[in-house]
Amino acid sequence: MESLLTDIDHVAIAVRDIDAAIAWYADTLGARVVHREDVASDGIREALIKVGDSYIQLLTPTRDDSTVAVFLARRGEGLHHIAYRVANCAQALEAVKASGARVIDEVTRPGSRDTTIAFVHPTSSFGTLIELVEESTSTLSTRQ
Ligand code: CO
Repeated sequence: MESLLTDIDHVAIAVRDIDAAIAWYADTLGARVVHREDVASDGIREALIKVGDSYIQLLTPTRDDSTVAVFLARRGEGLHHIAYRVANCAQALEAVKASGARVIDEVTRPGSRDTTIAFVHPTSSFGTLIELVEESTSTLSTRQ
């Protein structure tokens, strides 16, 4: 089978204080934020730090019932999920479902940066939450 994954899109890290985390990456590693976005539907705020053609995504909750708020309460700060780029998110999701893996999103949905995304459940993927990310033409412009 040919790989569905074309690149690492981002590695997401859950933090309590996103401004402190942004400052730490800048002061300690010289890494700069290239994009910030609030995703109201998920109750999260993100800051993307460019690393090559991929990102570190700093993630913090904007409300108490956000899944990231629940994650921070249960597990503390740290690695939250890894996101792989795919050419076609709907096709990749169907392939994952057909393989018998458990998914969080039965259908694709809009992500930040005009992406199309779907999450695979960590119980199927050896404890790591996986996100599938399909870029659009407008998404690419944030990476150039
Ligand atoms: Co993500």
